[in-house]
Amino acid sequence: MSQSAPDLSHHLSKEARERLPNPMKDIWRRVVSSGRLDVANMANGDPHYSLFPFKQLVFEVPSVTEAQDPVAEWRAGTCPTQSFRSYKDEDCALSLRNAFQYTHGAGLPQCQKVLKDLTDFFFAPPNHTVTLTLGNSDGITKLFRLLGDSGDYFLTDEFSFPGMTNAPLSCGIKWVGIKMDAGGIIPEEMEKILKNWDETKGRRPHVLYIVPVGQNPTGSTLSLERRQKIYCMAQKWDLLILEDDPYYFLQYDLPPAEKIPEVEGTYSQRFAKHLIPTILSLDVDGRVLRVDSFSKILAPGMRLGWITSNKLFHKKLVTYTDSGTQHPHGFGQAFITEMLGEKGWHLDGLCRWLQSLRLDYKRRRDFLLEMFRREVEPTGYATVNIPQGGMFVWMEVHFERHPHYRPGLRDATSSAVAPRTNIETLLLALFEKCMENDVVVMPSSIFSIPEDSMWIGNDNQHVPIRDRTKFFRATFAGTEENIEKGMVRFGRTLKDFFEQPMTVNL
Ligand SMILES: Cc1ncc(COP(=O)(O)O)c(C=O)c1O
Repeated sequence: MSQSAPDLSHHLSKEARERLPNPMKDIWRRVVSSGRLDVANMANGDPHYSLFPFKQLVFEVPSVTEAQDPVAEWRAGTCPTQSFRSYKDEDCALSLRNAFQYTHGAGLPQCQKVLKDLTDFFFAPPNHTVTLTLGNSDGITKLFRLLGDSGDYFLTDEFSFPGMTNAPLSCGIKWVGIKMDAGGIIPEEMEKILKNWDETKGRRPHVLYIVPVGQNPTGSTLSLERRQKIYCMAQKWDLLILEDDPYYFLQYDLPPAEKIPEVEGTYSQRFAKHLIPTILSLDVDGRVLRVDSFSKILAPGMRLGWITSNKLFHKKLVTYTDSGTQHPHGFGQAFITEMLGEKGWHLDGLCRWLQSLRLDYKRRRDFLLEMFRREVEPTGYATVNIPQGGMFVWMEVHFERHPHYRPGLRDATSSAVAPRTNIETLLLALFEKCMENDVVVMPSSIFSIPEDSMWIGNDNQHVPIRDRTKFFRATFAGTEENIEKGMVRFGRTLKDFFEQPMTVNL
């Protein structure tokens, strides 16, 4: 954040402005920051650590420096292991006495510190603070509450992740979908919406929620050029950007870190060099709130992640957390602090794991694409994108070739957003056929943001999203056996659906 960073407090919701801090936590913070050592603490109902029924945690993990390809060797059961430990009564990076006590909503200082160091290393944001979360779902939904009032409009990709976008609907927040292409959100389309916004009908959107790498569901990754344009627009239109980026480290088609001879430095420096810059790293105003998670790079059950934001939002987030979920769980924080500490993998070791993990997912992606080419493409009824990151492919079905495809359904009195084809009906019929044939793929209609003529206007050239919802999302996160089985069944289902239309119930 620059010295002259703008005041962004007008973005806070009524709830965020009115919510009182937990006064007991304030007193506790005062004691901690005073640095006094001999304090008779009779303030809180904190169970004494001698009553915690464990004295050490031993984490046995892959030895990432001994293995050539740690993920492949780990899966094959041939990877050497190493251990690190957390203790209650001996020296370690984060004592179990603290890890399992009531503590600060932003996370334990030791864990916060290793995550801040990691954030500084990869994203180098000026003047940002780290707040621990229970993963990105927790982080994002807290941010929605922090920034949204009933009647507000938020911007997002026109196909977005309903696990997140459904959350604020019941609080009266409405979504505006921005048109996308294979590269994700089209910045010019976002500008059009903001420029033409009729403020007599509602406050102009002030929040943009995006997933910039391996977008869920389309698998698209925003180029650096688009990121820069989007950030400039955020400055121009006073937007905050919620950068939900759980797939950041799963970027494919980058050079392997150990095969970049011209670059000197540590393994982590070489690994980081080719990753696309985050939107947070472009942030000079403090208007990017970035949300990271360990779910996709370690395990979803960690339920641990972190928000990187400017101090104003950090403070408000802590207020929510102190009287809500409270700090994230001790096991996760102990593990992360030891893992990133001197006796653990350290940052270099984590990068070795990430490098190997991304190669593993790249192999899975390539295997799915190969199966698609073998089983689905020859039907001529579907095509697929090649995602540069994440866990999903976006398969487009050519419903125009279906014998029951009906164009021209709209009459002159219909609004610009009313569908003029029966593509949505065909999509759902094909989805049911897939389910009958034991293959589960996600229909794009569950991800599409409903359009409103309020921001589309009366543009007759506009193709309604309901006529463009002709995709299925499939993941390559599973085993090769599962991927092959799924693609064989999807290909056969498509063939039956298009070539035996009498069996289709429309
Ligand atoms: C875009 C996106 N955001 C958030 C999440 C949830 O992440 P977490 O497990 O950290 O809550 C997912 C999980 O699939 C996701 O795809």
